[in-house]
Amino acid sequence: MATATAKAAAGRGKTIGILTSGGDCAGLNAAIRAVVSRAVQGYGWRVFGIHDGTMGLMRRPIDYEELGPGISNVNILRLGGTILGTTNKGNPFAFPMPDGSVRDRSEEVIAGVRELGLDALIGIGGDGSFAILRRLAQQGGINLVGIPKTIDNDVGATENSVGFHTAVAVATEALDRLQPTAASHDRVMVLEVMGRDAGHIALAAGIAGGADVILIPEIPYTVEAVAAHIEKVRRQGRNFALVVVAEAVKNPEGQRVQRQQASGSVTYGGVGNALGDALAHLTGADTRVTVLGHVQRGGQPTWSDRMIASAFGIHAVDLVAAGKYDRLVAWQNRAVVDVPLVEAIAAPQQVDLDSALVRTARGLGICLGDAA
Ligand code: F6P
Repeated sequence: MATATAKAAAGRGKTIGILTSGGDCAGLNAAIRAVVSRAVQGYGWRVFGIHDGTMGLMRRPIDYEELGPGISNVNILRLGGTILGTTNKGNPFAFPMPDGSVRDRSEEVIAGVRELGLDALIGIGGDGSFAILRRLAQQGGINLVGIPKTIDNDVGATENSVGFHTAVAVATEALDRLQPTAASHDRVMVLEVMGRDAGHIALAAGIAGGADVILIPEIPYTVEAVAAHIEKVRRQGRNFALVVVAEAVKNPEGQRVQRQQASGSVTYGGVGNALGDALAHLTGADTRVTVLGHVQRGGQPTWSDRMIASAFGIHAVDLVAAGKYDRLVAWQNRAVVDVPLVEAIAAPQQVDLDSALVRTARGLGICLGDAA
């Protein structure tokens, strides 16, 4: 933690802030490194790394550190997590206070930005974070640029967000490891993966990992359809089956398996076990369940996440240099572009049921849990 310093201390050029917000994922540090490299070495600016998302700007003294050229020299692009820390709680517009009440602390965050003398703020987040950061920016006149990150890959207007590729790689490796043990024991293996309201991880990893069944939130499933497919696989002479289920799938009545956390928040997780029990009951198959959970978020970023994060970081700083704000850096048609930030929060990017990947899955004979 460092004490707040006024812009007067910033010297020539711009002073920009950078923060990570929402759930962590692999590749965040590669994005931070790229931002620091471009801003400090490229433009001669100062970069203040704010700790724990907007929480760092709420604390007094402000919780931040200056990120110098050393950041771009060390190997932080290989590191998982975020060196700045993050949180997916603590919305400043409805901040949960220790006494159980909720308070609007947005002006404290805005005052923090002013105290640091930030000419611009680069926020690395998902759609929920951008909704909050954009509101803060509009209220406080903050020059904001967004870099999309989320393993769920559900930020609108970008084909890829930082962290998605690594999560898919981890889920695919899990299937690679489950397949031989499934075949050795004549078992049905259920793999539960993350993806709050979008099935991108399940769909991509399921295809890449040779799943027989892929269940995603965008397609309501019945356990009977899944059981019938497993019976079919058996009749075809195969002694095992691989089932990938996204944590947020819903049955035809729209019901999902959710868990109440001690903090009062509701999270997904648990559908894999419920599905495994139902399949064992219906098919008589020896069934085992693996819940991949946060393993998908940690660890080294893949080459792709490092590359995308680096490209996003450079473009974000160039946007600040050009005075283009309220923009989201995005990946479209094999290139880095920028779009209005509002597009990132307009609607989550769910799996398109007419997409090439859904057609690929159906073409491979993979059961998607429906009658199609
Ligand atoms: O949005 C990213 C994500 O990993 C989701 O896939 C998952 O549902 C959620 O975050 C888990 O959040 P937490 O880290 O609070 O358990």
